[in-house]
Amino acid sequence: MRPIVPIIRVSCSLLVAALVVSVAIAAVTPEQKKELKDIGSDITKASSLVSKKKYDEAEPELKELEQRLDKLIKEGKVPETDPAVKPVRLQLDKAKALLAKASGKGSVSFARDVAPIFVDKCIGCHTDGDAKGGLRLDTYAAMEKGGGRGALAIPGNAQASNLIQKLVTPNAQQRMPKGGEALKDKEIQTITTWVNEGAKFDGADKNAELATLDKKPAAAPVRVEIAKATGNEKVSFMRDIMPEMMDTCGRCHNDRQKRSGFSVASFEKVMQGGTSGRVVIAGNPDGSRLWRLVNGDDTPVMPAGNQTGITRKWYNNLKTWIEEGAKFDGDDPKKGFPTLEEREAAALARLSPEQWNERRKKETAENWKKTFQNSEPVVRESADFLIYGDVSPERIEAIDKWATEQAASLKSSFNVKETQLWKGKLAVFIFKDRFGYEEFNQSVHRREVPREIMGHSEVSGNMEEALIAIQDIGDAATESSPGMHVNVIEHVTGAFLKRGGGGLPDWVIRGAGLALANQHSKGNPYIVKLPGQAGEILREARIDKPEEIFGNGTFAPGEVAPIGFTLVDFMLKRGGPNNFGQFVKKLQGGEKADAALRAVYNADAKTLALAYANSLPAGSSKKKK
Ligand code: HEC
Ligand code: HEC
Repeated sequence: MRPIVPIIRVSCSLLVAALVVSVAIAAVTPEQKKELKDIGSDITKASSLVSKKKYDEAEPELKELEQRLDKLIKEGKVPETDPAVKPVRLQLDKAKALLAKASGKGSVSFARDVAPIFVDKCIGCHTDGDAKGGLRLDTYAAMEKGGGRGALAIPGNAQASNLIQKLVTPNAQQRMPKGGEALKDKEIQTITTWVNEGAKFDGADKNAELATLDKKPAAAPVRVEIAKATGNEKVSFMRDIMPEMMDTCGRCHNDRQKRSGFSVASFEKVMQGGTSGRVVIAGNPDGSRLWRLVNGDDTPVMPAGNQTGITRKWYNNLKTWIEEGAKFDGDDPKKGFPTLEEREAAALARLSPEQWNERRKKETAENWKKTFQNSEPVVRESADFLIYGDVSPERIEAIDKWATEQAASLKSSFNVKETQLWKGKLAVFIFKDRFGYEEFNQSVHRREVPREIMGHSEVSGNMEEALIAIQDIGDAATESSPGMHVNVIEHVTGAFLKRGGGGLPDWVIRGAGLALANQHSKGNPYIVKLPGQAGEILREARIDKPEEIFGNGTFAPGEVAPIGFTLVDFMLKRGGPNNFGQFVKKLQGGEKADAALRAVYNADAKTLALAYANSLPAGSSKKKK
């Protein structure tokens, strides 16, 4: 295929010429004419070397000729478009293309020559996090895929390639880099030649970041002086700078993805800077590349990608921090900064009991507002509970009493030392009817709640969330309703068991709650009926392996109460409360049910499951739908 480099060169040279019309253009002098002629005949000689397959001699020859030509154009202020220059350039490009084709190795290397241009000029707007035009340019594989309008480069045909058109179009609105200066002539030439030579990849891994392709020996790490903060500074790096720097800048400047060789993963790394050297000069914001990029004095403006990532306050703090000497108030400049999760966990760990209570109050009030915008709750606070409800104050008081009794009984039977069972207390929501309870599930948890469920608990491992929500089902216990006292006991117990973190299966939580409630409410018709129901469910369920009953999610929500109650009851009869407590602890510690059963009950899950199934009554009671 005939290389079409020259056509492209002419069009972009015209463009450049148009942009610099104010520069005086000298006519070609007789000496220059002679030099051009000499260059031309030397190119012919070099081309004949190519024909004789003497590539190693032709290559330096052509390089030198190119330098001669460039020098003449630059020093003589001769335009590329001059009729005396044009044919020589054309001849040279042809000879280079011939050499590239014949020798089988392109004159332009993607890894060495092209990738750095993309890294420098394009990936600020074309990465995985921020793919403008649906286009990523941060790996070769991504580039090969192209953008919204498909492939970028047509191998061997630069002129028809979307990529080159985007670089040379005279329409500044459409030209890349978007909104910025056009690429330098030389850079466009490099990319054009690369496409014409087949747009080949010569790196090791198409999925590697372009920035890492050209493995130049790593520069020796910059040694940086780190000034310790005195405590008198207005701005603390760790408190005022680091968190936002990690969250915003860290997206593109971390140890895995080091744009421009710059990582903000530790204080030392921030101070070492990137490929352009140090980016923070203590006491001198205007001399600090980091500040200049954030302030828009240099391009590309950081954070890259036009996202609004930083606050005015952070921006001001950043400047003050540099002015105050860029001092460090952490303990170890080499240590990686904590992640967002680690910072949140540390912040929670620092809260006092009063702060925890304040936090819970705020969040509970917010959850109530989410459920009922316009109705004020009845509120009651006791040692372990923060109760919000749309029932009477007397009812709330009675519920508080049941909950408090159950908390005391849990404390003594599980031998708990803490005075407060839940950090910041347990939020208790009481709804006088089904509507309120369903509304709460909708607005707070964004979920539908099955008919059979009349209450639930949510307690996260770090107790950031700790709540129960209960529908007031009235005091009467019937076959279809256990009555409010049991409902309260069941969910306080659930919230208690979830304190330990870890995922306990639903059957343990509901089963333990009902088994404990049963001690207070013997003969409760709802509970009395559960074993018969459980027998029915097991007979109808097609369970392939009996041991599956110990898993989570084996039974539908409406089936968890009968199975859970009878299974926990079975285990309590078999090993007593102590063994059951140990079993729960092991599950909370992340152990699998089978291993926990073997350790505590000396039997495998299958044997126990079969013994449990046999313990259920033959049963004639109908399963309620
Ligand atoms: C400042 C942000 C910015 C920079 C820097 C930038 N681009 Fe873009 N690019 C865009 C936006 C926005 C679009 C989508 C709108 C458009 O096509 O004008 C886009 C679209 C494109 C497309 C069209 C993709 C398609 O399939 O539609 C190509 C090709 C492209 N850019 C190449 C480049 C190259 C090559 C560079 C570096 C020389 C670069 N861009 C640098 C913002 C940028
Ligand atoms: C979406 C990705 C992205 C985000 C977010 C981002 N940067 Fe950059 N950053 C880049 C890219 C790409 C370059 C290289 C651009 C270039 O030099 O043309 C760069 C270069 C830099 C450099 C120059 C390093 C050197 O040695 O030349 C500094 C300093 C910098 N960024 C600081 C920041 C700061 C501070 C933030 C947060 C406020 C930030 N960046 C957020 C992508 C990003």
